[in-house]
Amino acid sequence: MRPIHRVFVTGATGFVGRVVVQALRAEGYVVRCLVRPGSERDLRGFEAIERIPGDVLAPQALEEAMAGCDAVVHLVGIIREHPASGATFYRVHVQGTVNVAAAAAAVGARRLLHMSALGAREGARSDYHRTKWAAEEAVRSSPVPWTVFRPSVIYGPGDGFVSALARLVRRFPAIPVPDGGRQRFQPVAVEQVAQGFARALALPATVKQAFEVGGPTAVTLAELLDLVADALGRRRVVKLHAPVALVRPVARLLPWFPVTPDQLLMLQEDSVCDPAPFFAALRLTPVPLAEGLRRMLG
Ligand SMILES: NC(=O)c1ccc[n+]([C@@H]2O[C@H](COP(=O)([O-])OP(=O)(O)OC[C@H]3O[C@@H](n4cnc5c(N)ncnc54)[C@H](OP(=O)(O)O)[C@@H]3O)[C@@H](O)[C@H]2O)c1
Repeated sequence: MRPIHRVFVTGATGFVGRVVVQALRAEGYVVRCLVRPGSERDLRGFEAIERIPGDVLAPQALEEAMAGCDAVVHLVGIIREHPASGATFYRVHVQGTVNVAAAAAAVGARRLLHMSALGAREGARSDYHRTKWAAEEAVRSSPVPWTVFRPSVIYGPGDGFVSALARLVRRFPAIPVPDGGRQRFQPVAVEQVAQGFARALALPATVKQAFEVGGPTAVTLAELLDLVADALGRRRVVKLHAPVALVRPVARLLPWFPVTPDQLLMLQEDSVCDPAPFFAALRLTPVPLAEGLRRMLG
């Protein structure tokens, strides 16, 4: 079969997307990105890529945008809904993925790589996880040979989670954490996730596989705060117990509150997995968490 040459990427302007584009370019692929009007500036510095204006919620133009592409990498996702502008979990995750999968099949793409999230499952408590699962179902029913990635928290420069913890650690000696920070995560470096996507295109063994993706170490939120402080060379912060039952009504009332009620539901669940199949199949060596955090923050 002809090797994959041109790769269409959705979500390229995001935190993960920019690194995925770099990883694809490093593997020698020609990259074409779907870019929403107004987001072009997020691809500054990526001169050697094709950009096509569009939106995963505008299916008519997607097929034309993808024409001539051998593979599709679908990264679009939201963590916070903006119903006034139509950005609901259902529309962006489910409808957007249905549109992308249909266009990929219509243009004869030979690979469809899909970004899901650890915890995506039928009947999950959070809307984010339930709609991520429904999006996976759309991908699994595609005739295009697919691969699904389900990462835990992804960290790296410009992320939304570890960078926020680092800002708190720099500013405050004590930090409120939901239910004392007992929830466990398996943060994975963004470069490793991106390399996983880029390598999967040339690895037939990854077809029709869903990979849970995490770093080599599971840590509680409280432990992660300590590792962030260590990486910054700061004193470890005091963790104040913030009962979720008290935080939830505030999150519901204040749209600018840093965590949404849906995220609070997710924060009450562990986000851990066995990442060995991912690292083995994608032929990657796991980066230890402390080392990855030092590279990011040190
Ligand atoms: N970050 C994590 O820790 C993490 C963990 C697990 C899974 N994930 C998943 O990884 C993916 C990328 O996450 P991220 O952290 O990179 O998020 P991000 O920085 O918010 O990027 C989201 C991307 O999706 C694009 N997008 C949103 N709505 C769109 C639409 N209607 N049409 C076209 N593009 C649209 C955004 O474009 P604009 O620039 O135009 O807004 C942006 O490029 C998501 O699917 C997320 O659920 C992330």
